[in-house]
Amino acid sequence: MFKNFIRRWDGRLRKYADRYLNRSDLEKDKEFQNLYSKVGTRKSKYTLTSMERCYSLYKAIQYITKGDILGDIVECGVWRGGSAMLAALTLIKSQQTHRKIYLTDKDIDIHGVPYRLLWKKEKEFLSVSLDEVKKNIFSTGYPKENIIFVKGMVQDTIPNTVPKQIALLRLDTDLYESTYHELFHLYPKTTSQGVIIIDDYGHFQGSQEATEKYLSQNPQKVLLHRIDYSCRVWIKPSPTLK
Ligand SMILES: C[S@@+](CC[C@H](N)C(=O)[O-])C[C@H]1O[C@@H](n2cnc3c(N)ncnc32)[C@H](O)[C@@H]1O
Repeated sequence: MFKNFIRRWDGRLRKYADRYLNRSDLEKDKEFQNLYSKVGTRKSKYTLTSMERCYSLYKAIQYITKGDILGDIVECGVWRGGSAMLAALTLIKSQQTHRKIYLTDKDIDIHGVPYRLLWKKEKEFLSVSLDEVKKNIFSTGYPKENIIFVKGMVQDTIPNTVPKQIALLRLDTDLYESTYHELFHLYPKTTSQGVIIIDDYGHFQGSQEATEKYLSQNPQKVLLHRIDYSCRVWIKPSPTLK
């Protein structure tokens, strides 16, 4: 009986310790926390992603700036613009505001759920106008002329409006068709040593299937690094590597 009691408490304590320790390093990073407080907390809810994903985006931007990885930033699936805001704030901190930030979103409908089926509160939460996204992104102070808003389904807007070279590609449109379309057109434009982030890999089967299918057609093997249960990140290998 005593052994069972110890076992039960051991399990509970471990759960608390895990929860505490898993984020303790992120919570100690003061610069990150300062930027994150502007986009990801309950009060400043501009992103649907987790603190872990925001941290990995923050580190990825630092990596491309410190490593002089050539190219622009692209996000497909922007919602209120929180991830893009974090990228812009990190670029400002790194004094690299010459890079263009391309933001593409179809507006309003989300997750492939027919909009008419949602409750009023959900509709209000999910619907974001282009004006609202612009207001949020411009609040970062990033040069307006370097932010390009591309409104419409990615299947229609890509590859018409895309940069020549991409340093960081963040894909967050949830579904198979859009994710495959984005990888098909934008991965070849991503600089070798550039960063690719798939936000929904673990959350939406379609996102995972599209990523796996695209990568299986690509001779270069990559390590999909796990950020949390959903997000995966990799660095594009140089062309000489098979
Ligand atoms: C999960 S939200 C993006 C979250 C956001 N990146 C963040 O940091 O919180 C998904 C977004 O993808 C957009 N989207 C979904 N399918 C799309 C498509 N085919 N073309 C363009 N945008 C799409 C939706 O309008 C929605 O704003």
